[in-house]
Amino acid sequence: MPSTVLVGAQWGDEGKGKITDLIASDYDYVVRFQGGNNAGHTVIHGDKKLALHLMPSGVMYEDAVPVIGNGVVVDPGVLVKEMAMLESEGVSCKNLRISGDAHVIMPYHKDLDGADEKRLGSQQIGTTKRGIGPCYQDKMGRKGIRIQDLMDEKIFRLKLETVLAQKNPVLERIYGLHTYTVEEICDEYLPYAQILRKHVAETGQLLNDALREGSSILFEGAQGTLLDIDHGTYPYVTSSSCCAGGASTGTGVGPKAIDRVLGIQKAYITRVGGGPFPTELKFPEEGGVGQDASDGELLCEAGHEFGVTTGRKRRCGWFDAVIARYAADVNGLTDVALTKLDVLSAFDTIKVCVAYECEGRRYDYFPMQQSVLFHAKPIYEELPGWKDIDITDCRAYEELPEATRSYIEYLEEITGVPMSIISVGPDREQTIMRGW
Ligand code: GDP
Ligand code: IMO
Ligand code: MG
Repeated sequence: MPSTVLVGAQWGDEGKGKITDLIASDYDYVVRFQGGNNAGHTVIHGDKKLALHLMPSGVMYEDAVPVIGNGVVVDPGVLVKEMAMLESEGVSCKNLRISGDAHVIMPYHKDLDGADEKRLGSQQIGTTKRGIGPCYQDKMGRKGIRIQDLMDEKIFRLKLETVLAQKNPVLERIYGLHTYTVEEICDEYLPYAQILRKHVAETGQLLNDALREGSSILFEGAQGTLLDIDHGTYPYVTSSSCCAGGASTGTGVGPKAIDRVLGIQKAYITRVGGGPFPTELKFPEEGGVGQDASDGELLCEAGHEFGVTTGRKRRCGWFDAVIARYAADVNGLTDVALTKLDVLSAFDTIKVCVAYECEGRRYDYFPMQQSVLFHAKPIYEELPGWKDIDITDCRAYEELPEATRSYIEYLEEITGVPMSIISVGPDREQTIMRGW
């Protein structure tokens, strides 16, 4: 199997966990390259739904080595708990490898994430409050603490002392929050170091050696293209590189090793948190009216659109081909996995946004200007649906109703990328392989 990057092609929650879990057994290594426990990836294990936040979804297969790359930010307490949860479900974490260069989310990062959101008031980003932004800020500011520092008590104490001399006044005087001593952080964090130590490795070297030996790698993206720090709807984004390019910087594997880029797209779109969303169908409580409000409610209800990490209700909207074409370019998508197609069985007709209109101008491409994006009105094509036909048992493309196949083929045509995996339900088996 060639090495593949799997990325979210929308605003996250596209079903990356399911698709990673589905194809992971074909790969020798499954690697997370960015983000942290802001991610919530759902995999089905037996008759249980498991939510993974830090562990690569490939952990479900004993033969695939799960790796947390250097580009990830690690909350060690969360990782230790997640490992314990998996072990209790009979999933072994013994093969896990963690990069010594990955940055550590510290208690003050979580405090600052929450406090900063409060300060922003109505302009808040709606972060997951897991400390992601502040941790990446420290990484870029060159005052971060890395997994390798956590493994060396002397260095950990020394770095903490320097960092706290700067953090404590900010916590206390700017945000009115409590301060930290080196001792209290050591009391909490050093026991995690004991548990994680045996998993720490030179993961860049490990992966490059593996490639030389002919092994294959699946790079599992978190979040999505429009949450990318550079290519997303800034500032309503996360603080990492979620696009395919991040797979190289976040693992230490050069771009030549990547053969395939699989974009995950829902058959509609959701977003959690603030920021522009042209095809959003506003819920009644957000001022939505008429058909739009009821379509939005129906998508949310039929698709169970509630966050895995925070439990928040996800904003819902129709499929946006402008975004799909943008994601194809930014990531260099070779294929797409279309997920949650079964959810659309709830509708008489299905809308697809083909372009935007703003102040009399048509946009067939994704506009750079946030002000345009905030005011963009979707231009829709309306396609016939396959209402009330249950497609969750279809296992071959030909078994799908004609209207469903027409919908897929229409999306392929206007986005320019073949859809090689079609997901018709949350389970592994509820999938149609179409040239993958
Ligand atoms: P991720 O963050 O991209 O991994 O996606 P999430 O796990 O946050 O959200 C996707 C949700 O949709 C999960 O509850 C999955 O179990 C579910 N899911 C994935 N694929 C399908 C599908 O094809 N149909 C349905 N109905 N649910 C799906
Ligand atoms: P997965 O991997 C959906 C969103 C947050 C917020 C913004 C910044 O499950 O697709 P952060 O805590 O990262 O600083 O928040 O990004 N966000 C996600 N939305 N799915 C995710 O992950 C997300 N991770 C972060 O809601 O708008
Ligand atoms: Mg998710």
